[in-house]
Amino acid sequence: MSAWQGTGRRVVVTGASSGIGAATAIEAARAGATVALVARRADRLADVLAECRVHSPSSQMVVADLSELDAIDEVAAQLTDALGGGVDVLINNAGVPKRRGVADLTPEDVEGVMRINYFSPVRLTLALLPGMIERADGDIVNVSSMGVHMAAFRVSAYSATKAALEMFTEGLHLELGESGVRARVFIPGSTDSEFSTKKDGNDDPFPRDPKTVATSEQVGAALVASLADERFITYATERDAASSAMRNADPEAWLTNLRKVFSSM
Ligand SMILES: NC(=O)c1ccc[n+]([C@@H]2O[C@H](COP(=O)([O-])OP(=O)(O)OC[C@H]3O[C@@H](n4cnc5c(N)ncnc54)[C@H](OP(=O)(O)O)[C@@H]3O)[C@@H](O)[C@H]2O)c1
Repeated sequence: MSAWQGTGRRVVVTGASSGIGAATAIEAARAGATVALVARRADRLADVLAECRVHSPSSQMVVADLSELDAIDEVAAQLTDALGGGVDVLINNAGVPKRRGVADLTPEDVEGVMRINYFSPVRLTLALLPGMIERADGDIVNVSSMGVHMAAFRVSAYSATKAALEMFTEGLHLELGESGVRARVFIPGSTDSEFSTKKDGNDDPFPRDPKTVATSEQVGAALVASLADERFITYATERDAASSAMRNADPEAWLTNLRKVFSSM
């Protein structure tokens, strides 16, 4: 994969206050882009912005709760202004987990995770897409999850949000045709961030084999590198791509095996 050239590109990264989003924003700034960061925690965003500005002094931040769907048009306008009048690359990365077995889910659990992981990136996309189409130039990257491609064990509500986001993105990718605007999906696997230990309405974290966990920096670098090519789906690691291929080759065998693995958990 060739290196992405960010010079002159105006990039929005949602969920840039920690983890994959923070690493992605810093990597994009390092590649020469001007970055606009958005999330709720102003202090954490300010720390990430300071790192971005080492490479890209015009980078900016906007503090916003992206689950407030009716405020998203205004956030989109603020981000556009912050970047001097246009957004070339939208990276919809903000997201929350929902680790909870189906029998214990409440309607509020299901709707809350759908709001931030699906409705919110869709609303931001709808707000910024017309400007991209008008300029016949733009990239939209929607951050999904291996929960869609490998196992939704005790994360059904979460994985469903990402499956919805992937199918929305696939339709958009097709409809954009030769418009000059590209939409694609980026799929992290297990990544070291606050996500996997987040409490707020989540059951306890799953045990993870440290050998299979990528750093946020590795995943952010892979995400930015994916902007340099035309592929619709990019997996953060080769291991994630191989797992997805195995599942797709024989879903019944894959699920039968996983039910055995998970039956003792
Ligand atoms: N870590 C993994 O193993 C893993 C695996 C697959 C996919 N992913 C996906 O990768 C993305 C990034 O996750 P991460 O691992 O980097 O986790 P993280 O460190 O918890 O980052 C999540 C980001 O989303 C932001 N966010 C959450 N709710 C928000 C809201 N209502 N409004 C605005 N921003 C909000 C958070 O910022 P504030 O709290 O400051 O608002 C934070 O910056 C997510 O979409 C996640 O689903 C992660």
